[in-house]
Amino acid sequence: MPEVASRNHLDMLAPVVDEALETAGIGFGDLTGIAVTNGPGLIGALLVGLSAAKAYAYALGIPLVTVNHLEGHLHSIFIEGQKNSALPLESSLPLLTCLVSGGHTNLYLLRGLPPRMLMPQRLSQSRDDAAGEAFDKCAKLLGLPYPGGVHLDRLARGGNPAAFKFPRPLPGKNLEFSFSGLKTAVLTELKNAGFVPHIWGEPDFSKLPQGALLADYCASIQEAIVQTLAKKIRLAIEQTGAKSLAVVGGVSANSRLRALLAEKVRVPMLFPAPPYCTDNAAMIGACGLFAFERGEALESEALLRAGAFSS
Ligand code: KG4
Ligand code: ZN
Repeated sequence: MPEVASRNHLDMLAPVVDEALETAGIGFGDLTGIAVTNGPGLIGALLVGLSAAKAYAYALGIPLVTVNHLEGHLHSIFIEGQKNSALPLESSLPLLTCLVSGGHTNLYLLRGLPPRMLMPQRLSQSRDDAAGEAFDKCAKLLGLPYPGGVHLDRLARGGNPAAFKFPRPLPGKNLEFSFSGLKTAVLTELKNAGFVPHIWGEPDFSKLPQGALLADYCASIQEAIVQTLAKKIRLAIEQTGAKSLAVVGGVSANSRLRALLAEKVRVPMLFPAPPYCTDNAAMIGACGLFAFERGEALESEALLRAGAFSS
């Protein structure tokens, strides 16, 4: 509900900024710049963040940079520097990056490292639903809370991934993804088994699978998603000659995806630490820091010009 999301942003933004500064043990006077997300996303929520960031920057007399949300995710592996890479970052190029979130399933080839990285070449995307969206929509049919990916991941650990054969779409050498058919396949399977898939209101658990059967559904749904991701990632490594792989975005926290890639992928892999997989401000800060280094910041006086962000 976009309108509710924007209003919640309005209520939460200032207290969250205050808490972040307190946790870091610094004050507003210690800040030398501000980075803020300018898209893609829900426009109402973005406007709240952007307006607040402009106001802070202008009031404090410090410069501001805007950051693309997807570029932010790509930077989540650089937040901790070399810490989660066995390979020196310089020798990891070209780096295949799979961005798997609630809104995107994109493969990119990175040929440079920050601060010169900029938005890299996109090799493929999803034709319809994103991988995280598929997790969430299937989890909802089973009556699990939103966002369902993390619940499905947890419940799947006790289940049989071969219990149900859900579709693995777009076979062959194509690097594109398609996940929209999965929810229909799950819906049909549930109905055929005599269940009432949850669509509106409160779930009626007496009409939904429970216990071991619920775990089997979760494991089979998860397997369909992660096998497809792993297959396309391997193909992309083969086709591009990538020397290493990074997986970022909310779904990169998935335990089965990490285990399967460790088994199937031969090149060194990089994952963000768990708090930096799902949406977070640290990745926007990391990306913003490099933008400051490249001299892309707007000085506070420029913030008042109409169209300051039009390019
Ligand atoms: O990156 P993110 O926080 O937000 C977007 O930019 O979309 O990703 C959110 C997505 C949701 O669909 C959520 O269900 C999924 O990431 N997710 C997971 C897990 N943790 C979060 N999916 C599968 N397994 C997880 N452990
Ligand atoms: Zn995101």
